[in-house]
Amino acid sequence: MCGIFGVTGLPDPLTLVADGLRALEYRGYDSAGIVTVDPERGELWRCRAAERGRSIEKLETKMHDAPVHRGATLGHTRWATHGAPNEENAHPHVDCSGRIGLVHNGIIENHRELSAELRSAGHAFSSATDTETFAHLVESKVRAGACLREAVAACLGSVTGDFAVALVDAAEPHTIVAARRTSPLIFGRTPIGAIVSSDIAAALPTTRDLYQLGDDQVVELSPDGVVVIDASGAPAEARRLAVSWSVEAAQKSGYPDFMSKEIAEQPVALAQTLLGRFSSAGVPELEELALSRRELAGFNRVVLVACGSSYHACMSGRDAIERLAKVPAEVDIASEFRYREAVLGADTLVIAVSQSGETIDTLHALREARRRGAKAIAVSNVVDSVMAREADGVIYTHAGPEIGVASTKCHLAQHALLAVFALHLAHSRGELSGESLAAAAAELTALPGLVEAALTGSQDHAAVARRYVGVNDFYFLGRRSGFTVAAEGALKLKELAYVRAEAYPAGEMKHGPISLIEPGAVVVVIALRDGLWEKVMGNVEEMRARGATVVAVCEEGDQETEAAADAVLKVPGAGALVRPIVGVVPLQRFAYEIARARGNDVDRPRNLAKVVTVE
Ligand code: F6R
Repeated sequence: MCGIFGVTGLPDPLTLVADGLRALEYRGYDSAGIVTVDPERGELWRCRAAERGRSIEKLETKMHDAPVHRGATLGHTRWATHGAPNEENAHPHVDCSGRIGLVHNGIIENHRELSAELRSAGHAFSSATDTETFAHLVESKVRAGACLREAVAACLGSVTGDFAVALVDAAEPHTIVAARRTSPLIFGRTPIGAIVSSDIAAALPTTRDLYQLGDDQVVELSPDGVVVIDASGAPAEARRLAVSWSVEAAQKSGYPDFMSKEIAEQPVALAQTLLGRFSSAGVPELEELALSRRELAGFNRVVLVACGSSYHACMSGRDAIERLAKVPAEVDIASEFRYREAVLGADTLVIAVSQSGETIDTLHALREARRRGAKAIAVSNVVDSVMAREADGVIYTHAGPEIGVASTKCHLAQHALLAVFALHLAHSRGELSGESLAAAAAELTALPGLVEAALTGSQDHAAVARRYVGVNDFYFLGRRSGFTVAAEGALKLKELAYVRAEAYPAGEMKHGPISLIEPGAVVVVIALRDGLWEKVMGNVEEMRARGATVVAVCEEGDQETEAAADAVLKVPGAGALVRPIVGVVPLQRFAYEIARARGNDVDRPRNLAKVVTVE
């Protein structure tokens, strides 16, 4: 969601900030803005734009009017929550005097009470945002004699909610002050200055000397150095980040978009996810996880929580855990779980699965689980993410940065890592023989090659997809692991192509949804050769009998399925553990091609944000 990028002490700060904002675009935004301090005049200069997809370009034009002298500079990409996505509501916001500039990510939950108090004390507001409240709050402290750092620290106790803020003050022209609670914010040092950023990918072109600000910590950045304090004003220390990503990993590197790059990277991403996860005898090893095998064996129940594509990975994780480790497992959508009043105890292990490790619903679900007495671990792609820090243990997917809004390589990596976890749990409980473990390890080790084969096989999945560009109604059907594939395929198509795509367990169609099937409907059926294939083929017949066109995801060489369907998307045959992972691959392409042919931006689909940091 909202992105923050700021620099001080570095040459050409406006260009650096605009570049930083471009790198943050993927988080999703509908307006953008920049503020810089003019040290000569001791005043702020600000520009903002609210033109979907072109706001940063607009800012770059407006930047020609910026003052020659530029001190501390902050930029922001806004994904509207409070107040329409227009220029008045775009950040940076300023206080009454125009002396303090502020950018913000998250939500100030008590903004109504605070702004009522501030208004009655004479503050004039110029936007409909919750953000502006913070600027006026800081103003009141600064007016009372505090420096910017002290003022921000003093405000933290008054605001509720999850947020990250960065501020400049015309009276301290080369200083940026930033603070956070839950929402992401890192800062970085260079020999001559410093930066603040919402994420690592945007910071990497400037520095690798990066630090994670703790909850309710405040950092003051200036060319003279960095000072970190806590909300009481006492000195504090931020945590240094171990950065393994390269700058190139977060660039398109010749691909037309991040999504096609990330689809192509899947074999390598999976190889990284699986690297070092098995001993030579096939025994699963999850050393990252801070839970011993003994502790793991003590859990009697596993609950997986996540949102979107990560939730779909959890569906197959649940199945693998029950099948291999014989532990009752369930999966819940994080935003539902949080309010479910789930009965949890010390014998329950909750697994919060999130690419970003920041999704607010999943984070709150993780917190709720711990509050209710369960142990909670995180599966995260972003190292040192908020969830990774708050959980009782973490395992990383190590899939490299994912910039395209639609999850692809990280989704596959989550599936694979949850399969490794299921094996680890099974081994800890003594549920699998050495032979079975070795066979499962071999199956997973072959996965990158299978995904490579699915991507480069004889069949052109894109050509099949192009036949359905004009269709507005899709159904995706499958059973058990086929249903997890169907759910992910439908989500990809909805979010990218903006067409209706409903996923149903195939056996459920007869209980209502089949009445929607009429000539013209396109039904994508997951017809992989698991134990349910024959039943799925029965569903294919039912669909065709009602005039639907059937596109089947099937295994190479499966002539029976090919004969029964109108079109097929072929994948290599695979074992039970990895079949749902391989099955997703052609559906990513299917959605990608249809979306592109319909003229949609696949990296930044409308209304969506890569990282959903608000409820
Ligand atoms: C869909 C997609 C989203 C995310 C969801 C959770 O392609 O990417 O559905 O999976 O927003 O995000 P994370 O995994 O970061 O918690």
